[in-house]
Amino acid sequence: MAVSTDNWEAVSTASKACLPPAVLDYIEECRKSPERESHLISVLHKVQGHFGHLGREQLDAVAQLMQIPTAKVTGVATFYHFFRLQPRGRFMVNVCLGTACYVKGADKVAEKLKEELGVDFGETSKDGLFTLESSRCLGTCGLAPVVMINDTVHPKVKPDHVPVLLEKYRAKAEEGSSVER
Ligand code: FES
Repeated sequence: MAVSTDNWEAVSTASKACLPPAVLDYIEECRKSPERESHLISVLHKVQGHFGHLGREQLDAVAQLMQIPTAKVTGVATFYHFFRLQPRGRFMVNVCLGTACYVKGADKVAEKLKEELGVDFGETSKDGLFTLESSRCLGTCGLAPVVMINDTVHPKVKPDHVPVLLEKYRAKAEEGSSVER
């Protein structure tokens, strides 16, 4: 379908307003390449690096500015696990479901985390504080079962520890201070 020049200008301006200058410059460089679609993943990495996730607006803007169909851009963003389509919480809660942790009850810890946060893996709690993820091994099997929150490893976590643990982080968020063990 033909797009009028006026309309293209408006779309282009709106798309540019969604992205930071460094990403716009990079897209401009990529557009000059005969293989511009091959740069899509690196463009999306840069967008995620800036915003922390890939929002609908940003995906649309990348599609418009790179002249790649939105369905393709969205397909790439959803296919690769390292792209995040939702904003991250202030605290990344990573429950280990590797063998050593699993045999010590990590599945029950994970269920309790889901229940307390009202989210599934990959989702962020409504208050925007916690994003829940799982790992296959955090490299601290001797401390199993392990939950890592940001950079802090919490060892030997039991399901009934979960509410207290989360409350500690909520309190820290209210204080506005960094969280330390
Ligand atoms: S399996 Fe959980 S830390 Fe290794």
